[in-house]
Amino acid sequence: MNILIIGANRGIGKALTDLCAAHQNWQVIGTSRDFDPELKRTENVWQVHCDITNQVSIKRMRQQLTTQFEQIDWLLNCAGILHTDAYMPEKALKQVNAQQLMDNYQTNAMGHLLLIQQLEPLFTSPSAKLIASVSARIGSIEDNHLGGWYAYRMSKAALNMGIKTLAIEWARTHPQVKFMLLHPGTTDTDLSNHFNKGYPKDSYKLRKIQPITY
Ligand SMILES: NC(=O)c1ccc[n+]([C@@H]2O[C@H](COP(=O)([O-])OP(=O)(O)OC[C@H]3O[C@@H](n4cnc5c(N)ncnc54)[C@H](OP(=O)(O)O)[C@@H]3O)[C@@H](O)[C@H]2O)c1
Repeated sequence: MNILIIGANRGIGKALTDLCAAHQNWQVIGTSRDFDPELKRTENVWQVHCDITNQVSIKRMRQQLTTQFEQIDWLLNCAGILHTDAYMPEKALKQVNAQQLMDNYQTNAMGHLLLIQQLEPLFTSPSAKLIASVSARIGSIEDNHLGGWYAYRMSKAALNMGIKTLAIEWARTHPQVKFMLLHPGTTDTDLSNHFNKGYPKDSYKLRKIQPITY
């Protein structure tokens, strides 16, 4: 079982990496923009650099992967941004700006889809496979009762539509691949730590994530 986890160095991706790595016979490949470009291995955990907004970086990662792996069984894409040092989520239209919209779209929507495009050859063998992208409830149009957070909401809605569209296409061409869009709920990570003050601590600790069974 080969599992590729995008965003394995922090937050939800790191928690999933630790849980998967506990299965000694699983090979877990984790990515981060802070890892080296060369594939490095410690026991059943591998590390490699990847920036999903950069096509050259994705191709380099794919080349590294294909030196060791003929196929990926699970792709768990945990990459996402909400805010940076330059901006926080917008509360009103007057705060909306092109840079924030573009950054969120590139990472949260475009990056997820273009990554799968580059990795397609690793998903073509007949065994069952899973591609999961961490989305967010906030990307639901029907569930939007609060407003605000334009760039993040729009990017997650776009992610949901992109993966749904791909699932329809690959149901015809690669029916062995199943897709999931995951809403993790508010989770105590760098992404959410400005916004989770009102939640009871135990409701969102990473240790609440349950081990995956396969
Ligand atoms: N925390 C929550 O309450 C919450 C709620 C709903 C949905 N989510 C979603 O859950 C996912 C994980 O978020 P988190 O809470 O774990 O946040 P986090 O701790 O801030 O982690 C964000 C992750 O995204 C990766 N990443 C960001 N930009 C990237 C890029 N261009 N290329 C590759 N990787 C990139 C980071 O990797 P490096 O910086 O190491 O490269 C990091 O691992 C996100 O998609 C987020 O939208 C979170």
